[in-house]
Amino acid sequence: MLRTVVCVSGGGTNLQAILDAIAKGTVTDVKIVGVISNNPNAYALERAKLAGVPGLCISPKDYENREAFHEALLRTVDDLKPDLVVLAGFLVTIPPAMIKSYVNRIINIHPSLIPSFCGVGYYGIKVHEGALQRGVKVSGATVHFVDEGTDTGPIISQKAVEVKEDDTPASLQKRIMEEAEWQLLPKAIDDIAHGRISVTDGRVVFNN
Ligand code: GRF
Repeated sequence: MLRTVVCVSGGGTNLQAILDAIAKGTVTDVKIVGVISNNPNAYALERAKLAGVPGLCISPKDYENREAFHEALLRTVDDLKPDLVVLAGFLVTIPPAMIKSYVNRIINIHPSLIPSFCGVGYYGIKVHEGALQRGVKVSGATVHFVDEGTDTGPIISQKAVEVKEDDTPASLQKRIMEEAEWQLLPKAIDDIAHGRISVTDGRVVFNN
């Protein structure tokens, strides 16, 4: 069983896709041992509760400074003894100490085809605003391992999604979630659980 912690900040549709895939049996040998949110009002916490998964809130507002918050976050993750940490719409910069402790064991979903529309400042709806402003005809989503940079870690999987003439940032965001994110993230977790992925020279290799 791959002990998996999912970190969230908002609606949690990606978390739901993972929970549904486990329930359906398309993802196997994975146990969600905890859901951590930085936002007490995240609907994702409700989704965790409904699925019978422990939900925890570590809010920066409850700590004196960033350092104390980072320490609490790392301690909470460590206590759950995860094999894998999944950032599913987690709007917190991961503390460097956590990246060091979990090399190639933290994955993130980003709603564009990296290296486009990624890096500092590209999060949430801003990613899709950027894509529409540039006039790209395809966008998509990327699952990648997390390293010290912002959206720079080894790429696990990507899926392209067509941009339509009349798209708004919100409609593009929705289509990318439905057509790409909700499939890519559970699949990547299943691949990791079954040892199909390794990282060599900063690149992901699929072992057959
Ligand atoms: C997703 O678009 C994800 O790619 C981005 O934040 C959004 C989270 O959505 N990083 P949800 O909370 O999973 O519904």
